[in-house]
Amino acid sequence: MTDPRLADLLQSVPDLRLKTDAADLEHYGRDWTRRWTPAPLAIALPGTVAEVQAVVQWANRHGVAVVPSGGRTGLSGGAVAANGELVLSLERMNKVLDFDAVDRTLTVQAGIALEAVHNTAREHGLVYPVDFGARGSCSIGGNIATNAGGIRVIRYGNTREWIAGLTVVTGAGEVLELNRALVKNSSGYDFRQLMIGSEGTLGIVVEAILRLTDPPPPTNVMLLALPSFEVLMRVFAEFRGRLRLEAFEFFTDHALRHVLAHGAHKPLDQEYPYYVVTEFASDDEATEAAAMAAFEHCMEQGWVADGVISQSEAQAQQIWRLREGITEAVARYKPYKNDVSVRISAMPAFLAQAQALLGQAYPHFEVVWFGHIGDGNLHINVLKPDDTADAEFVAQCEQVTKLLAQALQAHGGSISAEHGIGLVKKPYLGSTRSDAEVALMRGVKRVFDPNGILNPGKLLDA
Ligand code: FAD
Ligand code: MLT
Ligand code: ZN
Repeated sequence: MTDPRLADLLQSVPDLRLKTDAADLEHYGRDWTRRWTPAPLAIALPGTVAEVQAVVQWANRHGVAVVPSGGRTGLSGGAVAANGELVLSLERMNKVLDFDAVDRTLTVQAGIALEAVHNTAREHGLVYPVDFGARGSCSIGGNIATNAGGIRVIRYGNTREWIAGLTVVTGAGEVLELNRALVKNSSGYDFRQLMIGSEGTLGIVVEAILRLTDPPPPTNVMLLALPSFEVLMRVFAEFRGRLRLEAFEFFTDHALRHVLAHGAHKPLDQEYPYYVVTEFASDDEATEAAAMAAFEHCMEQGWVADGVISQSEAQAQQIWRLREGITEAVARYKPYKNDVSVRISAMPAFLAQAQALLGQAYPHFEVVWFGHIGDGNLHINVLKPDDTADAEFVAQCEQVTKLLAQALQAHGGSISAEHGIGLVKKPYLGSTRSDAEVALMRGVKRVFDPNGILNPGKLLDA
């Protein structure tokens, strides 16, 4: 170790695993944004809470910035290390620590993958209901840090609803055990909730107590083809009115084309401009009849042009792949991602405004729309043409995002629904949060991280 700071780190935390090879710096220094050049100082892979604490204490002594790192599937640059930071990867802390059948909780280390949590919950006859396409590689710690949403928020809410307790190491190096799985706890400020969605800027999540729930009733998955954008929210109201929805997702013909080119199965003979994937409880004849009634009503009204309902688990998965495969299918175009939300009642007006705005703003770029429309959350991905330079492309997209942020502000919406602010959306934080709120955020940051060593420059300017 030629860097004296790293030599001191290894002396202070003798069993710490440390990586400094160029390939590792590159691998751990980036997330799915691929916009920044990785340049971390080193990668620390602690194995215990005490080691995490010792690393944070070391970072405070040397004034070294620390980037908490999970699966690096983040889409806002939160886990990027491009300025000589120490990446603190939780990947070795990936174990299930406890299952409690009475509390219906699972205690896990923060580096465990979301999918491993799903599998363990299922082994106990229960479910952890937060779910989305990155399940195999994202970590629970990252999900908590971003308050991840996903495809079942409409029924179960965001990650925030499922965290019964947290153990965190704060930026000051204190270990806090927050809430300890209490269902009721009116004893003052709830720091657990403050940590959720704080993007690794206040504390490092090292362990979490997750709430589990009963498995859903049997479900059916339906793909609906829509003739226009305007009818989308009417179809949603119709299906939500008649059925217990587990998901209501949407995407456009552009998204479908990319997913099909990526190996997905063509769902319908004809092409349509808009599609919905909806999953709903369907465990008896009455609910099946309600689903058919919703479908037929939408057809009669001209809101739905075609559709297919899953007849098997395999077919349900094929339909889901059309929606879940979009991120990977467009990744090669280095998409500029917008992840916006408005309250559901504001969605029709916002959709109309956003569509007009983006149609004008991006005559030369392909725009792929999809998202969790039943939650009021739209993903608007702008694809980079191969012959446009990265910097020029991002600069153009930023100009449009400014306008989008203004439109969101007018509708009381958010510039980040579920991916977090990170680096990507930092310039627009003020469109969603007031000056007073941002000033309070800075104050909170100083309390938990007085030397500003945790993820500096993410969410707030350093
Ligand atoms: P990372 O990318 O490693 O980190 C994300 C942020 O959390 C960073 O700021 C990092 O510093 C911080 N962090 C990580 N671990 C910790 C920790 N232990 N303590 C404190 N801070 C920490 N997101 C959704 O919300 N909904 C979706 O539907 C969705 N679908 C996706 C589909 C695909 C194919 C992909 C690639 C991504 C998707 N995402 C989605 C985004 C991403 O998966 C989530 O944001 C996820 O929660 C990130 O987890 P991670 O472990 O990869 O975190
Ligand atoms: C999704 O809903 O598929 C994710 O949030 C990923 C993305 O926005 O690309
Ligand atoms: Zn999403």
